[in-house]
Amino acid sequence: MTLDALQRPLRSLRISVTDRCNMRCRYCMPEDSYSWLPRASILTFEETERLARIAVSLGVDKLRVTGGEPLLRHDLPDLVAMLRSIAGVRDLAMTTNGILLAPRAAALRRAGLRRVTISLDTLRAERMASFARSPRHADVLAGIEAASGAGFESVKLNSVIIRGYNDDELEALLEFARRQRAEMRFIEYMDVGGATDWAMTQVVSQREILERLGERYGAIEALREHDWAPAERFRLPDGTVFGVIASTTAPFCRTCDRSRLTADGTLYTCLYADTGLDLRDPLRLGASDEELARLIADRWSGRTDRGAELRAASPGRGVLYQVETLRADPRKEMHTRGG
Ligand code: GTP
Ligand code: 5AD
Ligand code: SF4
Repeated sequence: MTLDALQRPLRSLRISVTDRCNMRCRYCMPEDSYSWLPRASILTFEETERLARIAVSLGVDKLRVTGGEPLLRHDLPDLVAMLRSIAGVRDLAMTTNGILLAPRAAALRRAGLRRVTISLDTLRAERMASFARSPRHADVLAGIEAASGAGFESVKLNSVIIRGYNDDELEALLEFARRQRAEMRFIEYMDVGGATDWAMTQVVSQREILERLGERYGAIEALREHDWAPAERFRLPDGTVFGVIASTTAPFCRTCDRSRLTADGTLYTCLYADTGLDLRDPLRLGASDEELARLIADRWSGRTDRGAELRAASPGRGVLYQVETLRADPRKEMHTRGG
C-alpha cells in the first residue's frame, strides 16, 4: 500500500482518455472556445495501459475511464479489455455523457467494463439543448436504456443540480432512475477549474436537496456505510436508494484515495491541484516500469492535498480560475481532469 502524508492510500485511478467533448454543459464547458491538448501528446492505449498497470502495482484497485467524453475514442472497448486484464483490478468503471453509449454498451460490457455512470441533468430535451448545447437528448436516454439492459454490475446517473436550471426536477429524475433500475446521484455544483460561471448562489446544497425530497416522500434514512466513494447514500420510505455528492458544502478530502491521469499522461493527486506530474516524457524517453513506479510513489507519498476543504474554507468563495489561466494550461480544466 502506498500512503500519502495524511495516511491516505492510493487506491483509485481515474483515466481521462480525451479532453474533447461532444457536449458543452454550462457547469463544465461554458466558454465558446477552448485550448485543446495537442494530438501528438495524447497517450496511446498501450501507453495508458502501461501506466495503469504500474499504478496497480502500487495499490490501485479501482480504475475509471473518463473524458471529456471517453466514447469519442472509437475503439474504447479495446482499452477496456486491456485494463480488465491487469491482475489486481477489482473495479473497472466509466463515466460518460451517454450520447454515444447505445451502440457501444454491449461491446463495453463484453470487454469487461463492470459499472457505468451516465450524466443526466434534465429529462427535458429543450433544457439540455440550451444548457448543454446539445440536441441529442434522445440519444442519452437510449444510452441509459442500453446500459440498463447490458448487464453491468451497476448503472448510476449523475445530475449536477443548479438553482434555476434543474432544481425543479429532483423528483422526476429520481423516479426516472428508479424505472431504469439505476441509482440516482445528485451532485452539488462545484467550483472546479472550467466552471467559469460558478457562484455560490447557484449551488443547491445536500441539505436543501434532502429537505425538498423529505417534504415530498417522507423521512429519509441515511445509510451508514464506511466507504471511500464521494457519494453519501440515502433511502426513501419506499426503499429507493439514491446518493448525494456534497463536495462543495461537505468535502470528503480526508478519505480521498483518488489520483487522475490526463489524456496526455499528467498525473494529478487532486481535482483542485494546481500542477501535476508529467509521466509522458519519461515514458516516451524510455523509463523502466520501476522508474515510473518510483515517480508515482514519490509523488503520492508527499501528497497533502485537501483541495475541496480549502475551497470550502476560503472566504468570499468564487470562480477557481479565470479564463486566461485556463487557456494557458488546459490541464486545469475539469473536462481535462476527468470529473
Ligand atoms: P463511484 O465509484 O461510482 O462512487 O464513482 P464516482 O462517484 O467517483 O464517479 P463519478 O465520475 O460519477 O464522479 C461523480 C462526481 O464526484 C464528480 O462529478 C465530481 O463532482 C465528484 N468527484 C469526483 N472525483 C472527485 C474528487 O477527487 N474530489 C472531489 N472533491 N470531488 C470529486
Ligand atoms: N460541478 C459538479 N460536477 C461537475 N461535473 C463537471 N463539472 C462539474 C461541476 N462544476 C461532473 C459531470 C459528470 C462528472 C464527470 O463531472 O456532471 O457527472
Ligand atoms: Fe458535460 Fe462531461 Fe462534457 Fe463536461 S466533459 S461538458 S460534464 S459531458
